[in-house]
Amino acid sequence: MVRDEAYRVLTGNWREGSLADGTPYGFTCPAPPRYRHQWYWDSCFHAIVWRHFEPARAREELRTLLRGGRLDGFIPHTIFWHDNAGWRRAPFYATHSLRGNQGTAHIQTPLLALAWEMVADRSPEDPGFRTEGLDALRLHYDWLGRHRDPDGDGLISIIHPDESGLDDSPKYDAVFGWMSHYLPGYFWLVERSRRLRYDSRAIIARYDEHVEDVMVNVFYALSLRALARLTGDDAYRTRAERTEQALVDLCWDEERGLFWDLAGSGHAPLRVSTWSSLTPLALPSIPEEIARRLIEEHLLHPKRYRARYGIPSVSMEEPSFQAGWHLFRCWRGPSWINTTWLLAPALARFGYEADAERIVGSCVELVERHGFREYYNPMNGEGLAARRFGWSTLLVDLLGGGDGGSATPGDGPFVGSLRDELRSIGAEVAGETLGRINRRAQAAAKRLRPG
Ligand code: GLC
Repeated sequence: MVRDEAYRVLTGNWREGSLADGTPYGFTCPAPPRYRHQWYWDSCFHAIVWRHFEPARAREELRTLLRGGRLDGFIPHTIFWHDNAGWRRAPFYATHSLRGNQGTAHIQTPLLALAWEMVADRSPEDPGFRTEGLDALRLHYDWLGRHRDPDGDGLISIIHPDESGLDDSPKYDAVFGWMSHYLPGYFWLVERSRRLRYDSRAIIARYDEHVEDVMVNVFYALSLRALARLTGDDAYRTRAERTEQALVDLCWDEERGLFWDLAGSGHAPLRVSTWSSLTPLALPSIPEEIARRLIEEHLLHPKRYRARYGIPSVSMEEPSFQAGWHLFRCWRGPSWINTTWLLAPALARFGYEADAERIVGSCVELVERHGFREYYNPMNGEGLAARRFGWSTLLVDLLGGGDGGSATPGDGPFVGSLRDELRSIGAEVAGETLGRINRRAQAAAKRLRPG
């Protein structure tokens, strides 16, 4: 069921065509109609799953992403191929101007080289794929090193919270404050970057709201390693090792047993435990004693990350942890499937196979009960936010892809209408409000009960 439904989601969300100038595109939108464009890291995750079904679409998705970038190696966070950034967040998109942009002017967690290698490994029928993108991929990772690591410590910086893809994570509250992604002040953060033409070195020099984000750098290092393997150029491996060493030297907190993001030029540690603090577990070079601490003191700790369903995006012990849905905020507690995708294999690698299986099994249960939702409540398993969400199909990859059988595409692609989406948002709001009223009523009843 998981595999068939995944195929149905991916085919239903697939968009292809060409621009007026003839430039072709083909990609999976994360969840129409709410997310209709091409998002950088979503596309990488989609391609990783597509390679189990139709490697040709995996290749097209990544080629399209590369094609959406600039000649200097910059690739946008979001690319608007067939549709303008019209609905919902248009004024808040980090674009150069309010209209007429082909994509945003900011980045997203750069895992393209990693995805490229994974797709190339599944493309024996198109051996040229492995090498055709290498010049552009080199330019992309060189751009990141040049523009996003001005202090040269090996860690790249994000200048907007959503550049990691972890938009509203509470770890950013202390840095971005009133300009947080979920607050109206975010508009000013965008405007401010616009005025400096998104010149990241200038922005980092002028303002202190920038973060060396642990999760972003973990994916960056994994990708540099992939690029070294793809190109045979050891300079990328050396860069990866440097980033990995910097994570241990600068972000690791021996006392708390966690990795912290570093904010501003003063490298202030952002001491909020989110799944990002655990991501170095996925690095091949992670020292074993650090890995064991991350696993035993956090990932498997019943008060922190050992939840009934998936891996919570924020430690359940954090005051900011919120298990349920919120209209304007995400990444503040619920379990996402890409979190399990990164962490469960690492857990198994260190010998905790049973726990890895338990976590993946809980995700299967989630998907069987609620379908591929954007995220889920880690306590009661409720499916939350967007439906038919593309990267949640990473579960197929976690289950080994199930290659061998052919997919049964069910009864055709589903394309959600705006009305469906509004109805589902309405249902979410109603569900959450009712839950809250219930909890309040129960608390009041408890207070009134004698003794
Ligand atoms: C949300 C997520 C972000 C993702 C986007 C599209 O904004 O926080 O990570 O890329 O949706 O799915």
